[in-house]
Amino acid sequence: MKFFLDTADINDIREMNATGLLDGVTTNPSLIKKSGRDFFEVIAEIAAEVDGPVSAETTAHDHETMLLEGFKCAKIADNIAVKVPLTVDGLKTCKALRAEGIMVNVTLCFSANQALLAAKAGATFVSPFVGRHDDCGFNGMDLIEDMRLIFDNYAFDTQILVASVRHPVHVLESARIGADVVTMPASAMRALFNHPLTDKGLEGFDKDWAATGFSIL
Ligand code: E4P
Repeated sequence: MKFFLDTADINDIREMNATGLLDGVTTNPSLIKKSGRDFFEVIAEIAAEVDGPVSAETTAHDHETMLLEGFKCAKIADNIAVKVPLTVDGLKTCKALRAEGIMVNVTLCFSANQALLAAKAGATFVSPFVGRHDDCGFNGMDLIEDMRLIFDNYAFDTQILVASVRHPVHVLESARIGADVVTMPASAMRALFNHPLTDKGLEGFDKDWAATGFSIL
């Protein structure tokens, strides 16, 4: 399973990229606002930092303008995935951009039928928002299970990019189901490394090793 960071914060991206475990980045208009930076400048910087796909989201609602925005975003760098919403115009734009060989991430997916449409439109990635689903009293992971089943039934190569991830359990469940990608805030990725028994174990080994007086180097 690939790990993407869901942020436009270059410091978080650099920190997680240094682990060697980061496969890409997703952004959205809210994350760009949070960064306080110019859209083109920050997307170019992220795309230069990370080898994998970097999602840059379009903002127009109509197909014609969205397509122009998509072409402009795709020109920022070779690893840009243009993000379009799961609407009729968004899926028309998805088809058109894919025909030009541009990666597309279809976002704001909340049902398996919507995901099926995105796959039929040739999306590279489709982003179901599990956390926002949970917030409304539905189990977001049920949607991921349905999507995995449907995509496998028809051998769609659209990647399931689990989004709106809030905590490590979302990551664990995604891996169990066989999602292709999880995008998460840096806090969730940091949490994956931690376990109190690892810390406690290290403490014990350190103490005993010091008592031996040995040195490996
Ligand atoms: C997906 O690409 C979105 O940027 C993101 O995951 C939304 O997450 P949120 O529900 O925490 O805003």
